Amino acid sequence: MLSLSARPILSAFLLPKPKPRRLLLLLRPLHSSASASALTPPTPRTTTPDLPEDADPTPLFLRPPTHPVPEASLAAFRRRAAALVPPSAPHLHRHLRWLLADASAPAPSSADPSAPHLLRAPLDELEALWLRHVRDRRPFQYVVGNEHWKDLVVAVRDGVLIPRPETEAVVDMVAAVEGFQDGWWADLGTGSGAIAVAVARMLGPGGRVFATDVSKVAVEVARLNVQRYGVQDKVEIRRGSWFEPLEDVKGKLMGVISNPPYIPTDDLPGLQPEVGWHEPKLALDGGKDGLDHLLHLCEGLSSALMPGGFFVFETNGNKQSEFLVDFISTKWSSSFCDVEAVLDFADIKRFVRGYRR
Ligand SMILES: C[S@@+](CC[C@H](N)C(=O)[O-])C[C@H]1O[C@@H](n2cnc3c(N)ncnc32)[C@H](O)[C@@H]1O
Repeated sequence: MLSLSARPILSAFLLPKPKPRRLLLLLRPLHSSASASALTPPTPRTTTPDLPEDADPTPLFLRPPTHPVPEASLAAFRRRAAALVPPSAPHLHRHLRWLLADASAPAPSSADPSAPHLLRAPLDELEALWLRHVRDRRPFQYVVGNEHWKDLVVAVRDGVLIPRPETEAVVDMVAAVEGFQDGWWADLGTGSGAIAVAVARMLGPGGRVFATDVSKVAVEVARLNVQRYGVQDKVEIRRGSWFEPLEDVKGKLMGVISNPPYIPTDDLPGLQPEVGWHEPKLALDGGKDGLDHLLHLCEGLSSALMPGGFFVFETNGNKQSEFLVDFISTKWSSSFCDVEAVLDFADIKRFVRGYRR
């Protein structure tokens, strides 16, 4: 029997990032708990107009700027949007600036100041997007359709997990594996494809990433990101459950990477609204103890990896990592070595990594 209790475990999803400082415009955290409480109780979701049925699913920054808007209308929108922000939530003013920056075409330096602004979406769509962010707590990343992750701008949309800064560390762990450039890698549960794209960009001519996900939306978004970064020749996206689509590369993988769903089911209602209301349950729910998928992945590892192959899994934190290190080292000591937990930037044992003997 697993001994993990159902008590909430500190999770990347419950405590969003302390983010190392980057350019301000690159910093787009989910709402912090403090700002979330400033907005509680949230207005019931039914009061917010839905996006129009025909709203364009293309991320804002990838749309052409084809909507001319007079300066006065834009200024009026800015005032209306700012008036919805509670004084206790200053980060929303930042989001408003970012939304307008993402939605605007860069003005040519010779531009006539009286010329209309060119936007990538009609103002009424921006208005609906803004209301859903402020009132429904829809994550800003879904509003603008992207997240800055490592050196990438990753397209995201409803139905796919927003990649978290903690997860960036797995790419650095891959880069530390000897000879990784020419290996075959699997990114299981690829979501937006962030890990697969970041790893692919470091690979040499013989290197390849097989990225799997069971979710149709994730597969679509991952394909978009793979194309945007021009790594189609390095990343093969396959739809299916965990190792199932990888029968043909069994035993040939240099590494297996996964950030699977790991939140215990009973903890899902306690997630901050941005996560619990809006991110896909399929990406979060790890079953009773949060370990269902992690244990399934452990089971498949030894037949998937080549001798000497590397693995790294993200977990919910100390309890899951300690449990898995102990479990793998005890149950499969003849198959794996150097199994250890690795800290994230908040000093939480976030990852479990090791090698196949
Ligand atoms: C926590 S998200 C991680 C997404 C991405 N790798 C990241 O780090 O941002 C977990 C992903 O696993 C996928 N998933 C859930 N069950 C799966 C299964 N049985 N087989 C493959 N992928 C699955 C979800 O659709 C989701 O994209």
